[in-house]
Amino acid sequence: MVKKIGILTSGGDAPGMNGAVIGAIKAGIALDKEMYVVYDGYKGLIENNFKKVDASFIEDKLSSGGTVIKTARLPEFKEESVRKVAVENLKKEGIEALIVIGGDGSYMGAKKLSEMGINCVGLPGTIDNDIASSDITIGFDTALNTVVEAVDRIRDTMTSHNRCAVIEIMGNNCPDLTIYGAIACDADEVFTIDHPLTDKEALFKKMDEKKKSGQEAYIIMVAEKLLDVEALAKEISSSTLWEARHTILGHIQRGGKPTAMERVNAIKMGAYAVELLDKGIGGVCVGFENNELRHIDIYEALKLPRNKHMELYELHDLVNRK
Ligand code: ADP
Ligand code: F6P
Repeated sequence: MVKKIGILTSGGDAPGMNGAVIGAIKAGIALDKEMYVVYDGYKGLIENNFKKVDASFIEDKLSSGGTVIKTARLPEFKEESVRKVAVENLKKEGIEALIVIGGDGSYMGAKKLSEMGINCVGLPGTIDNDIASSDITIGFDTALNTVVEAVDRIRDTMTSHNRCAVIEIMGNNCPDLTIYGAIACDADEVFTIDHPLTDKEALFKKMDEKKKSGQEAYIIMVAEKLLDVEALAKEISSSTLWEARHTILGHIQRGGKPTAMERVNAIKMGAYAVELLDKGIGGVCVGFENNELRHIDIYEALKLPRNKHMELYELHDLVNRK
């Protein structure tokens, strides 16, 4: 039976990661495990950056964003020779199992470590919500609330000046923060990889009609990596009746206090990961499916198609048709 369990966070930080760490530590200690944190993600495995912790470790940080145990990207971890060093270091310390909180890349590292004798469980940690094996990722709810607060603020000033805002929403190649945000902010337009801007002339015509009918602000939300928001704002200013400004929300979306639901879900996932490792289950990742926790093989998880949420675009089109 597993006695010593390590926890690390890897890839981009996300609000709620601290909750998952706290949930895992407290559940582990309740089940008589010795719990360790690994600092700096996979880099900490190579550099022997382990610390044995008790149940009170970072419990005051549940309300903080970021990850107290730090995170890093270590491309060399794709090499078996580098992972061998990690396995040797873990074995020297007597750590037999790991909880890895991160995205797809981190999951791949966790699966490979499991195949090398260190049972790993992956938890979905990223604001992007781009992990198909879970309806929600740790960080998504908080980042969405941050997006909504920021866009609401931008709307205040756009309305005061009768302007148009073109706002870029972070999310890597995943449009979830953009489409959910667009619904929550009642944006006039939403453009993502699944719902791109295809007819600029029609857009400009619609914008002019709205201006003439007395609309005070025009909000356009655009997913990261889709188009140049600054250029689009300039073109709107020169081709329509609207004066436009662009904003890139960027890393402001990554920090901040995790929401209450974020904390609850993160703690649930952290505790569930420990229960799996306690049963000798590894090489899997944890996710929510219709509000129920589940675990599936990491390779299977990485093959699942992304949920495109097309019903949300239909809803957005419906409420913005006239
Ligand atoms: P995310 O986990 O958020 O997708 P990355 O893609 O940056 O972020 O991956 C995080 C880390 O996971 C990488 O820096 C690397 O250490 C490790 N990783 C990524 N891909 C692999 C792989 N194919 N095999 C082993 N480790 C990997
Ligand atoms: O994966 C989280 C994320 O914030 C993406 O939304 C974004 O594209 C990327 O990380 C930014 O990475 P970095 O913080 O390395 O600039």
